[in-house]
Amino acid sequence: MYRTHTLGELTARDLKKKVKLSGWVHKRRDHGGLIFIDLRDKTGITQVVFDPEICIEAHALAEQVRNEWVLQVQGTVRPRATGMENPELKTGAIEIEGDLLCILSKAKTPPFPINEEEIRVNEEMRLEYRYLDIRRGGILENLHTRHKAIKILRDLLDREGFCEVETPILGKSTPEGARDYLVPSRVHPKNFYALPQSPQQYKQLLMIAGLDRYFQIARCFRDEDLRADRQPEFTQLDVEMSFVEQEDVINLIEKVIKQVFHQILGLEFTSPFTRMSYHDAMEYYGCDRPDIRFDLKLHRVHKALENSLFNVFNQAIERNEIIKAIVVLQGEKISRKDLDDYTQFVQKFGLGGLPMARFQNDKLETGIAKFLTEDNQHKLKTQLHLEEGNLVLFGVGQEDRVNQAMDHLRRDLAKKLQLVRPDDYKFLWVVDFPLFIGDGEGSITSAHHPFTAPLEEDISLLDEHPLKVRAKAYDIVLNGYELGGGSIRIHDKDMQKKIFTLLDLDDEAIEKKFGFFIDALSYGTPPHGGLAIGVDRLAMLLLKTENIRDVIAFPKTQKASDLMNGCPSSVSSSQLEELHICVEDKSYKK
Ligand code: AMO
Repeated sequence: MYRTHTLGELTARDLKKKVKLSGWVHKRRDHGGLIFIDLRDKTGITQVVFDPEICIEAHALAEQVRNEWVLQVQGTVRPRATGMENPELKTGAIEIEGDLLCILSKAKTPPFPINEEEIRVNEEMRLEYRYLDIRRGGILENLHTRHKAIKILRDLLDREGFCEVETPILGKSTPEGARDYLVPSRVHPKNFYALPQSPQQYKQLLMIAGLDRYFQIARCFRDEDLRADRQPEFTQLDVEMSFVEQEDVINLIEKVIKQVFHQILGLEFTSPFTRMSYHDAMEYYGCDRPDIRFDLKLHRVHKALENSLFNVFNQAIERNEIIKAIVVLQGEKISRKDLDDYTQFVQKFGLGGLPMARFQNDKLETGIAKFLTEDNQHKLKTQLHLEEGNLVLFGVGQEDRVNQAMDHLRRDLAKKLQLVRPDDYKFLWVVDFPLFIGDGEGSITSAHHPFTAPLEEDISLLDEHPLKVRAKAYDIVLNGYELGGGSIRIHDKDMQKKIFTLLDLDDEAIEKKFGFFIDALSYGTPPHGGLAIGVDRLAMLLLKTENIRDVIAFPKTQKASDLMNGCPSSVSSSQLEELHICVEDKSYKK
């Protein structure tokens, strides 16, 4: 037996007990004769004392040990000397009088200190030695919280009658808007599996199969540009239900989310969560995942700016571009230098600049104010409810660029002005999404995925005005993050075929890619719908981190590589041959 107790467990109630302990050397101190070793495991730290008078061999071994060696010790629990207690530690009232020491494993000097978590270590180094980084404690705690959250989700869904089903990882491409990761088949030359971007089609097939209520903690793979909240492989809580409408799915998800936040953070939220249409989200926040913890809304002001003396505004109005303004109430907190930085910031999103003016002495002054007519001044003041000290920032240009830049700008301003309280969580359902989005050149793609049902009242618009058709789709947003998304699905095979056709797939392509699915829909399909929550993002929000890698044991870098084992990596030419793959790189060696 390696241990009778873990290292965070012994207290004054255990005095005189004979114990065996195992763990890592956190610290070793030699106090002229007595050697103190702090032994650590994930539960805590216990102090062990080796006295040559008690056991000369154990003391001699203790002289050799170094940080991070793995030891087993045996000894007796005794109180610490008066004044030497450590109230910070659960085990701080006791120590172990060691009478046996066994070295289970020695350790090289780690590339960064394990026992001083406060020391900042560069993330690349942490990822290269992820097992040591986890051992430091912070990520370890995050993994525990993530585990707890998943357990709460599983238990609740089980109580609600859901059945967890695993679906294939080697499958056929599912369109979720990203590139697929492909796996070549050895047995079927020139054929590939696609790793699932999500189990979307499988979960719908399970509804056709009569499963009624499905969930899965599902691993998904998407080859897309990475961001602080995106990984190439990530986990979803994937849910699907039969005989439901949008409200049923929303009610269930609110219940699930409230339970997790209650059990992990002790927070209570009331249902129903706030709702906002996709239109309003884009109009007032410039994005479909608005952070509603602070105001700083976007206001469309081109009407108020008609006939100004400012060419940038006039040209934008002529070109049918848009002008949106943000009003910063405490404008004095934004300096000239900040404004220069913000100008460069919005330029990265394709805007020409960031015209501004300050409202003081009952009118707009400085910046572009000199180009505003009395009429412009009056209309802006009325529309924006301007008050003394306000700063007005204008985003001018093509609508999508203005929205993107001003969305990022308002998030950045909120940070700078400290408008967000640390414990503030604001849930929001974004609803009434469009079914399709246009690429500006006549082509359309699905806003969610092509299995999403259109709103009944908009079906008549499908042929003539597809971009006006709204979907039975809903996203759950938390503090500006898209936490989850879902929809009511098409359960009629003809409608499904029509949507594929509108997406520019001809009959042959539909048959090749989705023939089996359309066929399945024709064997009696219950109305169904569902949603998937990003488990990694949920964990990020519960743990208040902005870095998705903090909640994943072995994450990939921004360039989708694993610095620890060096993947992706080349493979031998014989492996490639077996897979019927020829890599066109002359430097590729046998
Ligand atoms: P969607 O594509 O919206 O929907 O994904 C659902 C949720 O998964 C999370 N997510 C990600 N998390 C980390 N890294 C990524 N690269 C990543 N991509 C997505 C987000 C997102 O809200 N099949 C549909 C669901 C459905 O219709 O039921 C789907 O996958 O939190």
